[in-house]
Amino acid sequence: MESPLHQFSKISELLNLFEYEEVARRKLSQSAFEYFAGFAADGITDDSNHQDFAQLRLLPRVMVDVSQRSKGINLFGRKLSVPILAAPMAFQAMAHPHGELATASACEALGTTFILSTFSNYSVEDVCEKVASDIWFQLYVYKDKGLTKNLVQRATQSGCKAIVVTVDVPLIGKRENDIRNRFHLPADLSIANWQNTSSDSLKKLPGDLPDSGLAAYFASLYDCTLTWKDLEWLVSLTDVPILVKGILRPDDALRAIHSGAKGIIVSNHGGRQLDTSISTIKALPPVVQAVNTFDSNIPILVDGGIRRGTDVLKALALGATAVLLGRPLIWGLTVDGAAGVAHVLQLLMDEFDLAMALAGCDDIASITSDLVVQ
Ligand code: FNR
Ligand code: LAC
Repeated sequence: MESPLHQFSKISELLNLFEYEEVARRKLSQSAFEYFAGFAADGITDDSNHQDFAQLRLLPRVMVDVSQRSKGINLFGRKLSVPILAAPMAFQAMAHPHGELATASACEALGTTFILSTFSNYSVEDVCEKVASDIWFQLYVYKDKGLTKNLVQRATQSGCKAIVVTVDVPLIGKRENDIRNRFHLPADLSIANWQNTSSDSLKKLPGDLPDSGLAAYFASLYDCTLTWKDLEWLVSLTDVPILVKGILRPDDALRAIHSGAKGIIVSNHGGRQLDTSISTIKALPPVVQAVNTFDSNIPILVDGGIRRGTDVLKALALGATAVLLGRPLIWGLTVDGAAGVAHVLQLLMDEFDLAMALAGCDDIASITSDLVVQ
């Protein structure tokens, strides 16, 4: 049956993030949609990221003056208009020709931070030059230490305000649709951070294997020997704060901090890595407790399954400083470039604002753990 969304011609008539996914699904090639939407194995972790948010019940406060609601936060000394950042996501030009430039501009317009993936289709220099607001760089660590150092230095020199080291991808998870589709980049796209090198194996994903080209790329180039010592090395390469993304355990969070990380991102990579891993909203409280015992000023971000303003409220109530939004930004980008991304962000911000009002919160500090039934 035709989806009821078929009748909508103007994107502003889309009412929520789920509706964006339905429209994007019809615009993208099967291979691109399945890559963006994809998950590891049976999608159990991806599902629990959503279900565990939905199952948490709120205990709203009433009779609070909520006529003014302040949603801004400070992260590493910089102001964000809301506690929602753009998660790093690869290959955004598969969704729209303006790719990462469009997503970053939408974040700029809404006063929040864009995190650029190592695997972007526009280079870190390009994005930082064309977009004025705060950009963070997400780092994948190559076996070749020189390549890794080069990325960290270029990101720092380009003006990135933080570096996010992703640690949950020693190898790519078993994404069966990508294996079936032999997922690789369309001929006109490349990993732009390596566009000036002559090495095709660095800037392209192999398309001639009976496998996901991304999985093959990681297996041949990514450093799966990475340990906490290497984090100390990365920290020594730059003056900007380093955050570690892909933490689910309190002991790992503490190791990250002891190795020099200035922030933690609780993430299971949107359920794309180890299937049946814990959902992030369940992983968050023990991480918060451990980190706060050490230093309550260390930012703890969380991502995975955030689709409603109430999810943002719950994440903050359980101790997150902010959340990262993933796939819905790709759906916005697919539907209408920068305007689509901006609308997706605006919808989530508005829902969060309303959720604050209805839960009796007039600022971020009033979003406390007693709002969630434990
Ligand atoms: C990602 N993610 C990711 N993470 C990262 O550190 N570097 C990357 O290059 C990518 N690339 C990427 C591509 C796509 C298509 C997706 C969907 C995800 C993971 C991402 O940053 C984030 O952890 C999850 O997407 C959050 O979950 P939701 O919001 O998509 O459910
Ligand atoms: C992904 C990688 C690139 O999840 O992080 O597809």
